[in-house]
Amino acid sequence: MSKALNIGMIGYGFMGRAHSNGYNRVPNFFDTEYVPVLKTACARNKEKVQAFADTWGYESIETDWRKMLERDDIDAVDICVPNNLHKEMAIAAAEAGKMILCEKPLAMNAEEGIEMCEAVEKAGVKNTVWYNYRRVPAVTLAKNIVDRGDLGKIFHYRANFLQDWTISPDVPQGGAAVWRLSAEEAGSGVTGDLLAHCIDTAIWINGNITSVTAMTETFIKERKHQDTGEMLPVNIDDACAFLARFENGSLAIFESTRYARGHKALYTLEVNGENGSLSWDLHDLHHLKYFNHDDESIVRGWRDIHVSDGEHPYMDKWWVPGLQVGYEHSFVHHVADFCKSLETGEECGPTFRDALETQKVCDAVLNSAKSKSWETIN
Ligand SMILES: NC(=O)c1ccc[n+]([C@@H]2O[C@H](COP(=O)([O-])OP(=O)(O)OC[C@H]3O[C@@H](n4cnc5c(N)ncnc54)[C@H](O)[C@@H]3O)[C@@H](O)[C@H]2O)c1
Repeated sequence: MSKALNIGMIGYGFMGRAHSNGYNRVPNFFDTEYVPVLKTACARNKEKVQAFADTWGYESIETDWRKMLERDDIDAVDICVPNNLHKEMAIAAAEAGKMILCEKPLAMNAEEGIEMCEAVEKAGVKNTVWYNYRRVPAVTLAKNIVDRGDLGKIFHYRANFLQDWTISPDVPQGGAAVWRLSAEEAGSGVTGDLLAHCIDTAIWINGNITSVTAMTETFIKERKHQDTGEMLPVNIDDACAFLARFENGSLAIFESTRYARGHKALYTLEVNGENGSLSWDLHDLHHLKYFNHDDESIVRGWRDIHVSDGEHPYMDKWWVPGLQVGYEHSFVHHVADFCKSLETGEECGPTFRDALETQKVCDAVLNSAKSKSWETIN
């Protein structure tokens, strides 16, 4: 007998769509006791949210998220809105006793993140943050290989997240879709938007980061506000590069920019250990490259694992070996794991508390860029 997990979705943009697709796909492919039900979609514009609800199959709409929280027929709230709204919505949802699935980054800064952690922990509500790249099967496989100890002692971790969509000075800042370029709405630029993903995966695979030294740059100093047309200073980091030390003694280098002409979403990561290395690239997301030094020397080399076999993470739920899945499936996997966690009583990571660790690293990176010195993470 299945149990309903009634979802109240806030926001109908990029992530509102990605998550709705995840909720809809899970019952078709995963055998979970809890089954997501798209109960209500909430956003300020009635016509637009109704169109979204009709497209994805939401039973009802709301235009005021506080009203949605008062409803008894909502079990879990999904926060898919700009970063400056996460804290207020998450704390109110926790106080209303709702489970929370919150988009990343957790908050505008660690201070806000701490308040959010305290709220969900005090209320005892289930919580998770959508750092979805953990659930790309090849990335999960990389984590499993490291956890088995196959790489031995880890020496190096490196990650990039490169895009090129803000090179033109004509791209506006602030408001729908370009809220990411406004520090008031996003908190930071590429650090909170893109590097936060790299940091979450890095901590998950390689353990906590203890110190960082960073540089950031804002290449275009002024942009028009989309809504008012007013020319305003740009206060986000357009590019960020930082060095880091992990608790396990390994060193790391991270880089992100929205000014790497030709790159749209090039997220790459590499781990180098005593016995082997792993390498992954979002543009080729179903492949994991693996070098195993224990291989016989005459055949030793980088293996290219096509992560599509039934023994690979999540892949027994999809098609037949050799047929791959894509970007959207990372969200389907997150929903499936969340539903499973309701059954087992285990946490569905990253929790708010896990995501706070990433937030602390982001804060330290931005502080280091200002102070021009190493910053430690407590
Ligand atoms: N996990 C990922 O890979 C990933 C990718 C993109 C975005 N994100 C995160 O998801 C969140 C949303 O990003 P997006 O790309 O979907 O943004 P978006 O601009 O596409 O959509 C934002 C939505 O929020 C709604 N909204 C804004 N203010 C609101 C309010 N007061 N009440 C109700 N709704 C409101 C807007 O109407 C819109 O539907 C951000 O925190 C972002 O960092 C995560």
